[in-house]
Amino acid sequence: MKMLKKATYLPLNLSVLAPLLLLFFLLSCVVHGVHEKKILRVHNNIWSPKKSYEASSSCFSRSLGNVRESSTLEIKHREICSGKTTDWGKKLRRTLVLDNIRVQSLQLRIKALTSSRTTEQSVSETQIPLTSGINLKTLNYMVKVELGGKNMTLIVDTGSDLTWVQCQPCRSCYNQQGPLYDPSVSSSYKTVFCNSSTCEDLVAITDCGGYSGVVKTNCEYVVSYGDGSYTRGDLASESILLGDTKLENFVFGCGRNNKGLFGRASGLMGLGKSSVSLVSQTLKTFNGVFSYCLPSLEDGASGSLSFGNDSSVYKNSTSVTYTPLLQIPQLSSFYILNLTGASIGGVELETSNFGRGILIDSGTVITRLPPSIYQAVKTEFLKQFSGFPSAPSYSILDTCFNLTSYGDISIPTIKMIFQGNAELEVDVTGVFYFVKPDASLVCLALASLSYEDEVGIIGNYQQKNQRVIYDTKQERLGIAGENCSI
Ligand SMILES: *[C@@H]1O[C@H](CO)[C@@H](O)[C@H](O)[C@H]1NC(C)=O
Ligand SMILES: *[C@@H]1O[C@H](CO)[C@@H](O)[C@H](O)[C@H]1NC(C)=O
Ligand SMILES: *[C@@H]1O[C@H](CO)[C@@H](O)[C@H](O)[C@H]1NC(C)=O
Ligand SMILES: *[C@@H]1O[C@H](CO)[C@@H](O)[C@H](O)[C@H]1NC(C)=O
Ligand SMILES: *[C@@H]1O[C@H](CO)[C@@H](O)[C@H](O)[C@H]1NC(C)=O
Ligand SMILES: *[C@@H]1O[C@H](CO)[C@@H](O)[C@H](O)[C@H]1NC(C)=O
Repeated sequence: MKMLKKATYLPLNLSVLAPLLLLFFLLSCVVHGVHEKKILRVHNNIWSPKKSYEASSSCFSRSLGNVRESSTLEIKHREICSGKTTDWGKKLRRTLVLDNIRVQSLQLRIKALTSSRTTEQSVSETQIPLTSGINLKTLNYMVKVELGGKNMTLIVDTGSDLTWVQCQPCRSCYNQQGPLYDPSVSSSYKTVFCNSSTCEDLVAITDCGGYSGVVKTNCEYVVSYGDGSYTRGDLASESILLGDTKLENFVFGCGRNNKGLFGRASGLMGLGKSSVSLVSQTLKTFNGVFSYCLPSLEDGASGSLSFGNDSSVYKNSTSVTYTPLLQIPQLSSFYILNLTGASIGGVELETSNFGRGILIDSGTVITRLPPSIYQAVKTEFLKQFSGFPSAPSYSILDTCFNLTSYGDISIPTIKMIFQGNAELEVDVTGVFYFVKPDASLVCLALASLSYEDEVGIIGNYQQKNQRVIYDTKQERLGIAGENCSI
C-alpha cells in the first residue's frame, strides 16, 4: 500500500517541480546578475578613425520622407552642418568645457531668480539678470526656416525666449553661412514701435530711452547670454515659414550687433515659455505644443522638430508617457520635471533624494544630477559594468574606461522616472561620452552637480532618439522612444 502510494506520488511530483525549478532559476537570474543591457558598437561613430566620414556640404538637403507634415522641420547637429573635416577629439573635449560654463551660468541664473522673492526689498530690477543669462556656445541643434521668404538656419534653444537673426545693415556680426536677413527687401517686415503694447510687454529686454535717456521711436532690444554672447538691434515682425505653415507678424529680433553664436547659423530660435517665445506667439496655431527628436551626432542622422499637437507625425517606438511640468513662479520660463526615480540595468535605485525638480534643457549636453543621486547611479553602474579597464577622469566626467580593444559591448540600460511614471530610457548612444575618438577614454555621460541644492538638468546627450513633447497648454511633457533617423 505504502509502496504504491510512493510510486504514484513521485512522477507527479517531478512533473510539477521541473517547470517550477526552471521558473525559479530564471527569476533568480533576473535578480542576481542578468540585467537589462544594450549593445554599443565601440568603433562605429563618425569620429572613429576606423570609419571615414564626409560632412555633407548641403546640410538641410535630406528629404524628410513621410515626416514632411505641415509644421515639421528637419533638425541637425551643427557639427554635421559645419561642412569641414575636423579634429573630433578636440571638439568632443571642448564641448565638455563649454557645457560646464553653460551649467554654471544656468545655476547662477536660477539662484538669482529663486532668491529674489525672499529678498524682494534689497534686489532691484537691475540686479536681477533680466535676460537669458545662459551660455549659448554649447547649443548644437539647428533647423531651417524661411523668414520673409529667405532661408535662415537657426540654433534651437528651449532655455531662452526671443528668436533673432543677424540683420542688415549690420554694425557687428559674426560669420554666418548664407546672406544676412535684409529688411529693406521684404514687404512683410514691420517695425515694432516703442508705443506698442508688444514693446511695452517686453520691458525686460527693450530700451526705449529709459537707460540712455534719449527717447526712441523704434523698440530696441538687448539680450545678453551668460558667456558674454549677446544680440542687440530692433524688435520687428515678419512672416515666418515653419515647414509648410506660414505665420504672419511673428515678433523677432533684427540683430545689428551680435556676438557669440557659432556654427555659422543665421540666429537663434527661442522655445522657452515666456510671452515672446515662438511657442507663446503661435499658441492659436499650434496649441502651445512642440516636440523634437534629437539625432545622435554619432551617425550623422537627421531628426525633427514639430509644432502642434498632431501626434500622427511622431514615429515613436514606445507609447508616449506624460509627466507634469512643475509650476515654480520664479522659474516660469524653464521646463522643470519631477524626477522620482532611476534604474540601472533594471535595478531601481534607492535614495531619498528623488522627488525634486529637474530642468529639461536642449542646450546642456551632459545630464547633471544632485551628488547623492549621481553617487547611487555611479555605484550601481560600476557594479554592472565590471571587468573593463578603467581610465582617469576627464573634466566633469569621473567614470571612465579604456575600451580601445573592444568591439561590441553590452552596457546596462539607464532609465529616468518622472512623476506619473513617465520614463526616459537613455538611448545606447547616450550612455557613454567619447572623450577620445579612438575609445581609449570613454566615460559615463552623466555628471554630478557640485552641491545637493543645485538644480539637476537633463541634457541633450540623454535625450537623443526620444520623442520629447512640450505641451505648454496642458503643462505636461511627453516622452517616448523614437529612432530619429528613420
Ligand atoms: C531654401 O533652401 C531650399 C533647399 O533646402 C531650396 O530648395 C530653396 O530654393 C531655398 N529658398 C530660398 C528662398 O533660397
Ligand atoms: C506710435 O509711434 C509711431 C512712430 O512714431 C507713430 O507713427 C504711431 O502713430 C504711434 N502710434 C500710436 C498708437 O501712438
Ligand atoms: C489639439 O488641441 C486642440 C485644443 O486643445 C484640440 O481641440 C484638438 O482636438 C487637438 N488635436 C489633436 C490632434 O489632439
Ligand atoms: C506611439 O504613441 C502613441 C501614443 O501614446 C501610442 O498609441 C502608439 O502605440 C505608440 N507607437 C508605438 C509603436 O508604440
Ligand atoms: C514629486 O512627486 C512625488 C511623488 O508623486 C511627490 O511626493 C513630490 O512632492 C513631488 N515633488 C515636487 C517638487 O512636486
Ligand atoms: C588602452 O588600451 C590599449 C589596449 O589594451 C592600450 O594599448 C593603450 O595603451 C591604452 N591606452 C591608454 C591611454 O591607456
